[in-house]
Amino acid sequence: MSFGESDDQRLVFPAAGRNVLPIADVLKLHLPKSGRVLELASGSGEHAVAFQQRFPELVWQASDPDPQHCRSIDAWRAHYALTTMMPAALPIDVRDRPWFSHDRAEFVFDAFVCINLLHISPVLCTDQLFEGAAEVATNDAVLMIYGPFMRHGAHTSVSNAAFDASLRQRNSAWGLREMEWVSSRALAAGWSLTAVETMPSNNFTLVFGLDDNI
Ligand SMILES: C[S@@+](CC[C@H](N)C(=O)[O-])C[C@H]1O[C@@H](n2cnc3c(N)ncnc32)[C@H](O)[C@@H]1O
Repeated sequence: MSFGESDDQRLVFPAAGRNVLPIADVLKLHLPKSGRVLELASGSGEHAVAFQQRFPELVWQASDPDPQHCRSIDAWRAHYALTTMMPAALPIDVRDRPWFSHDRAEFVFDAFVCINLLHISPVLCTDQLFEGAAEVATNDAVLMIYGPFMRHGAHTSVSNAAFDASLRQRNSAWGLREMEWVSSRALAAGWSLTAVETMPSNNFTLVFGLDDNI
């Protein structure tokens, strides 16, 4: 991942600048009007601050296990003077459950957003994402996952096939996941696929809802 760093701790991920608008447009279709959103794997925090400002009625809780990324999220948050509607970043690793050690209202969420994690993490993270989110979700919560996916056993583009090969070369536990497999892992944790949104550059947004509410 290439990124630059400004004088403060704000990181800049070029891909985030390219995909922030199309992702926000799709989030708008599925996010509740108000409530609390937990973003997993927030990275630099550029998405988080953009989304909180685009959806000002939502509390946007960003998180990432990388301390440098948490510092960047908080620096972006300070840069835009976002306070109560964007709490400080939390160091959540989806594999470390429960994600919260206390039952508190601020640790229950109406929506979950996860951008570009599943292909850059071991398959275990996919299960842990769905299971962890189900543990802290309201009954009508939505969970949205953005990234590149295989579909029906095949890559959706030549460039995705090359990207998949390069990921697997970097780390044998990484790689593009099959949409149908992701959806089966969601079901095992109580989430049903409700929409598949086609995104620019051969990406998708997968939208899930809790089974009891569909
Ligand atoms: C490709 S970056 C995506 C960052 C951001 N969502 C974006 O699209 O710009 C992947 C992010 O996943 C985070 N990550 C890696 N393993 C994780 C895990 N087990 N749980 C939560 N986040 C993880 C990394 O720290 C990194 O910030």
